[in-house]
Amino acid sequence: MEGFTIGKKGVFLETVKFENNLELSLLSRGNGVEIIQQTIEEGKLFYVYPSENASSLEFYYILSGQVICELDTEKLTLGPEDYFSVRGLNNPIYFTALSKVTLLCVFTEPTFVHISKDISALKEITKQVELKDRYTYKHSDRVAEYSVKIAKKLKLGKEQLENLAVAAVLHDIGKIHVPSEVLTKPGKLTDEEFELIKKHPGDGAEMVRDSFYKELAPIIEQHHERLNGSGYPHGLSGEEILLEARIIAVSDTFDAMTEDRAYRKAFKEQIALNELRRLAGSHYDKEVVMAFEQILKEEGRIS
Ligand SMILES: [Fe+2]
Ligand SMILES: [Fe+2]
Repeated sequence: MEGFTIGKKGVFLETVKFENNLELSLLSRGNGVEIIQQTIEEGKLFYVYPSENASSLEFYYILSGQVICELDTEKLTLGPEDYFSVRGLNNPIYFTALSKVTLLCVFTEPTFVHISKDISALKEITKQVELKDRYTYKHSDRVAEYSVKIAKKLKLGKEQLENLAVAAVLHDIGKIHVPSEVLTKPGKLTDEEFELIKKHPGDGAEMVRDSFYKELAPIIEQHHERLNGSGYPHGLSGEEILLEARIIAVSDTFDAMTEDRAYRKAFKEQIALNELRRLAGSHYDKEVVMAFEQILKEEGRIS
């Protein structure tokens, strides 16, 4: 049934095990919120940390087992159906599992993405791509940083922002299938070589489709589409292209122009922005380019 998901006992979107007998399983996620089942083996210590974001909430409900919670002044024993919340915490709080404990956790900030094996494996591929392709590293990280800044300026919703941030890091993973000689070729590409390059958005989307971050696939697939239909792989135009992909297109082009490549020196940031402005409306989304220009001005990078 559309919009309805049943999960059977012991079946999870993804499980991550930590060596100290802690296990986290993702049950559901949406709109930046994650529902996680956590198990801790008997006798083990675990803790909750202050969050970077003071407004984020972590909620824990004990399904089975018993824990001791160590507060400044007292030690409390908590058991099944007891629960605790973490919001605006200043110092870590430590717990000891008296028996094997299972907790149901609700996090309002994406947490699982940072420990996900799927995402780590894909990020590892991003690094390999950068080794093959780039004269300097960190292209993907910078594209993600620019994209998030633009998204905040444009007031994108939380879910869009989170997906954009991960998609931006992974946008070029499909290049892992393109030979290094083609990626770093200084001169004009032959038609065959360009055909190989044109496959990377689709290949990247395919690699993500197998993970539970499937919704990133269309964003990755569309990052080389251009408003007037001149992009690849599908020649989509205008609103057919996702806003997230239009944002990555701007960040990606800017970063590609302002970094040294094997075959040329970096362009000045002002020059790169002028180029984006020249192509705003035809290749790039005007609003996205304007938002980015504002950011660069605020950061004193252009005049
Ligand atoms: Fe790309
Ligand atoms: Fe790129």
